[in-house]
Amino acid sequence: MDMYEQVIELAKRRGFLWNSFELYGGTAGFYDYGPLGSTLKRRIENIWRQLYVIEEGFMEIETPTIGIEEVFVASGHVGGFSDPLCECTECGEAYRADHLISGIIETADALSNEEVDKIILEHNITCPECGGKLGNATEFNLMFQTKIGPGSGRNGYLRPETAQGMFVNFQRLAKFYREKLPFGTTQIGKSYRNEISPRQGVIRLREFTQAEAEIFIDPSEKTHPEIARFENDVLTLYSQDAQKTGKPESMTIREAIDNNIIAHEFLAYQIALANNFLQRIGISPDKLRFRQHLKDEMAHYAIDCWDAEIWMERFGWVETVGIADRTDYDLMAHAKMSQEELAIYKEYDHPRMIRKFVVKPDMAKLGPLFRKKAKAVADELQKLDEESLSQEEISVIVEGEEYKIPSELITFEEVEEKVSGETVVPHVVEPSYGIDRIFYALMEHAFNTEKVASDDAEEEERTVLKLKSEVAPIQVAVLPLMGKTELSTPAKEIVRKLANRGILASYDESGTIGRRYRRNDEIGTPYAVTIDYDTLKDNTVTIRDRDTMKQVRTSIDTLENTLFELIHEKIRFEDAGVPL
Ligand code: GAP
Repeated sequence: MDMYEQVIELAKRRGFLWNSFELYGGTAGFYDYGPLGSTLKRRIENIWRQLYVIEEGFMEIETPTIGIEEVFVASGHVGGFSDPLCECTECGEAYRADHLISGIIETADALSNEEVDKIILEHNITCPECGGKLGNATEFNLMFQTKIGPGSGRNGYLRPETAQGMFVNFQRLAKFYREKLPFGTTQIGKSYRNEISPRQGVIRLREFTQAEAEIFIDPSEKTHPEIARFENDVLTLYSQDAQKTGKPESMTIREAIDNNIIAHEFLAYQIALANNFLQRIGISPDKLRFRQHLKDEMAHYAIDCWDAEIWMERFGWVETVGIADRTDYDLMAHAKMSQEELAIYKEYDHPRMIRKFVVKPDMAKLGPLFRKKAKAVADELQKLDEESLSQEEISVIVEGEEYKIPSELITFEEVEEKVSGETVVPHVVEPSYGIDRIFYALMEHAFNTEKVASDDAEEEERTVLKLKSEVAPIQVAVLPLMGKTELSTPAKEIVRKLANRGILASYDESGTIGRRYRRNDEIGTPYAVTIDYDTLKDNTVTIRDRDTMKQVRTSIDTLENTLFELIHEKIRFEDAGVPL
């Protein structure tokens, strides 16, 4: 079994994750989270909330997972959110055309369908399933379409990203944040993509969870007030230039900004925050890098994008988070579609005096030339910018009709004007997390097998999921040495006391203590509390640390606090009691 198979076998057997609809044979691209998986996933999401909602102040919103057609026409998804599809002309099997040639050309996803067809033909690539002839590559839109309401209904789509729900709420959000940039909003929820033929298990799903933040910034102010927090953090960056040499580089965030490797501080801050989050939940730093998109792989809405890529044994470097500079693309697109202004009025700290040229139409001459329309023509002239006015032939549109104005009828005057603010269309920096991929990566990075002494003094192998205690689904296992009432009663009391402190503890009295430790090691429970006959005498219990298997003896009276502090890494295990 390779690493992926070992992790998924454990995940299925112990209640983390399995294929959906198993009862009916299942279908690719859908996974269910079981009791432990749902808890682990929720803990990941809650740490994300801690960082983005509580610490950054990007309040969370919740919008429908179905969107109306206008939203996705404006966003560009109806027109362009597609992958190249290639079907076997004999068995009908469907393939991502770019995946079929990815072994031949590295940037396969940047090729046109015609180029893909040419490579398939030249290399004589046939159907991997039956060896049959492959048809031409065609574009396949990845959105799930639906009808809203009965009859012919209104076209709707399951959202392919949570982001659009935040963009279309821009006006309300701007009011909520009193029109002060920067501000941000977040959403965690399901997104849907009708992936062509997902063959990568939990890595490529048709329904998956995204955690996204849309951070609206002033395009003229790209320095981040809090960048000092992360300035000295060292990250592995794989910039466009570094990709030419094939060598990712380690550097501090400050070096990356100063050397123009990351374009601006807002983007750099978000890359650093993603690095901080991923390591906090337990992604190994040596299996994490940030890769900049090449120009030809950038999404239609982005001018710059860095992916947090995580190393996974079977899949290699996998994109788990995309951190994009979306500019004003989305707000402009929705403003055009909705005919609403999606902008904020930015008031200056102090009014500014600006000098500008204004048009002075000569009404004595415009009047006879344009008669009843003269006033409207003059008004339109005054709206023209300097560039339009410097053309040889000046024209304006009045009630749909074009009027040409000879330049000798226009004179200019330079005036000084007091301006107290301006209208700004914010730019957007967006960190977009795929929680399911991160979930799998965490399990893989935590997965360990090691030799240990067994109860009967023989060596045995233990499987241990070395999850960070903050994300482990079950946080404490409470184990009476034996199932007798005198031990089980205080053990159950401990479970109750831990629950009241918000700690999820399990109670287990069956099997040898060694077996019970192994069962808990395998699901990542960081601490086990053992109640024995000494407990009845001196009111103390043993706490065992999952990773080192070391034990300390500590008082029951302070047990909830001790465990809480251990779980949240406020104290070291050695300081949790008297070592045994
Ligand atoms: N709003 C921007 C956006 O959606 P994306 O790069 O298409 O950007 C963001 O997606 C993240 O969502 C990815 O980095 C990945 O972790 C996750 N994701 C995308 N497609 C996925 C799929 N089919 N299955 C699982 N996760 C997926």
